[in-house]
Amino acid sequence: MCGIVAYVGSKQARPLLIEGLKRMEYRGYDSAGLAVLNGKLEVCRAVGRVAMLEEKLEDAPGFEGTLGLAHTRWATHGGVTEANAHPHRDDKVGIALVHNGIIENYAVLKTYLKEKGHQFHSETDTEVLAMLIGELYEGDLEHAVQAALREVTGAYAIAVICEREPDTLVCARKGSPLMVGIGAGEYVVASDPSAIVSHTTQAFPLDDYNVVKITRTGFRSSTVENVSVTPKIMQLEMDLEQIDLGRFQHFMQKEIFEQPAALRNTLRGRLQRTEGKVVLGGLSAYAKELVRARRIVLAGQGTALHAAMIGEYMLEDLAKVPAVAEYASEFRYRNPIIEDGTVVIAVSQSGETADTLAALNEAKDRGALALGVINVVGSTIARETDAGVYLRVGPEVGVASTKAFTGQVAVLALITLFMARRRFMSTEASTRLIDEMLAVPDKIERICEQDTHIRDVTAKYCDRENWLFLGRGYNYPTALEGALKLKEISYIHAEGMPAAEMKHGPIALINEGMPAVFIANKGRQYEKVMSNIAEVRARGGHVIAVATEGDTEIKKQVEDVIYVPDVAEQLSPMLTVVPLQLMAYHAAVIRGHDVDKPRNLAKSVTVE
Ligand code: F6R
Repeated sequence: MCGIVAYVGSKQARPLLIEGLKRMEYRGYDSAGLAVLNGKLEVCRAVGRVAMLEEKLEDAPGFEGTLGLAHTRWATHGGVTEANAHPHRDDKVGIALVHNGIIENYAVLKTYLKEKGHQFHSETDTEVLAMLIGELYEGDLEHAVQAALREVTGAYAIAVICEREPDTLVCARKGSPLMVGIGAGEYVVASDPSAIVSHTTQAFPLDDYNVVKITRTGFRSSTVENVSVTPKIMQLEMDLEQIDLGRFQHFMQKEIFEQPAALRNTLRGRLQRTEGKVVLGGLSAYAKELVRARRIVLAGQGTALHAAMIGEYMLEDLAKVPAVAEYASEFRYRNPIIEDGTVVIAVSQSGETADTLAALNEAKDRGALALGVINVVGSTIARETDAGVYLRVGPEVGVASTKAFTGQVAVLALITLFMARRRFMSTEASTRLIDEMLAVPDKIERICEQDTHIRDVTAKYCDRENWLFLGRGYNYPTALEGALKLKEISYIHAEGMPAAEMKHGPIALINEGMPAVFIANKGRQYEKVMSNIAEVRARGGHVIAVATEGDTEIKKQVEDVIYVPDVAEQLSPMLTVVPLQLMAYHAAVIRGHDVDKPRNLAKSVTVE
């Protein structure tokens, strides 16, 4: 979603801010802007890519200065126009502000400010906040920001500069991430560490309701009530190479191919094969609660929810504990019952998804033990949980989530074994499953070797506008994930569902040549899936089957087959999803879409 980068130091701010915006481009945005303090405020904004902003700046004189801020906007209030792009200003005092989040009471504040004589130039909630800070300014920017934020409800990460204080950058946060990078005599503030790591790896995240005043010589952290706080400085672990494309054309492609290495990292040091044990440092203090857990709720959105659904199946099947996966957004607002012994697991790549965070907090308030399955270390959800297990799959830059999905399924399998072994599972059974897990990365490598075949199969169908994805059991969520991937980046309409559900209505959609992707690997429901395949083919549908190596029979029953190695059924989604990721990728490339910047999408959704 929106991105913020701000700089104060001794270097020219403008190239640095542009570089920061480019690093955050993957997050999704529709317009960009920048302000530099050069005696007076100089502001430039453009609709479209950061490159458009750069082009505009090339023709603009000035913009020299060592204090500035910049933004990529993902529209919420008001359309995609230059007037709505950030930074927004208050001209009375000379303030420029960039903002991520939503000011919920902006309408009331706008009426108040209009009465005070302010004139608005945009439809945004952000401009209201800029004007409010201007209205409350009495010679101290930090105090004006604190006072304004005391009047605001909603979510925000902001950076603010003011013509009257040419040495000062003020930033604040509630509900939307923001981090201060500490360099030598310089500070880089950003909503995403990728915009910081090329300058410094020392940083601290702002906590909710915290405000930080930064000058070239130091910083001061406080709450909006002006109580001093001491931030926790940490070492950013992101390596710039990890966010470069290397030999690949797109981040999504790179991340699909990275899955074997990423999963080896996820599993490293966590499996004790001979004892059939799983070692999860983050959970060891809560082992008793987990053994005694009476119900597990897994909450997430999108791809993370699909992984959570597989977690639900594994927990019930292997750890024998009642489990349910839910849309975090629904769980949060449906007055859920949390009984004694309920454990909530928030599943999220970014650790910043607003709905997932809200669900977690709701569950915590109702007494649940709150665990996280998160990728981004130190993210908001990771910090809010009682304990958790990191994915360790490295930064995921592609907007369409791929390696985080397989990482989430792997971590949920680890948590399942952690509990199962302590509850009912024998050492032998656990060791068998551990061996299966350890073999998954090599097996994914074998699937990736079929990339050309997968592209050729996709090319045959990618002019069709409606696809079905069907699976059963553990691979019903995989079908949902396959359909989501195709929708997101190729803009083809796709529906995923349990294969049996097709007969209850969707079968009416099937006509001559409609592609239906079946996850038909060997497993408990194989025969049933084969019957569903026959039903589709009888109506003219073209079936692409993801099947188990060695299943030669299926070749006679379908139009195309993509083989995956055999694996324990519970772990099979980590393999069967890979051809679906590659199909979506190739369909998008063949149709000429920008895979890493899909329309309307944002990498992390920080508004509810
Ligand atoms: C799909 C995708 C989204 C995310 C969802 C949750 O490719 O990326 O559906 O999975 O927005 O995001 P996280 O995992 O960051 O909470």
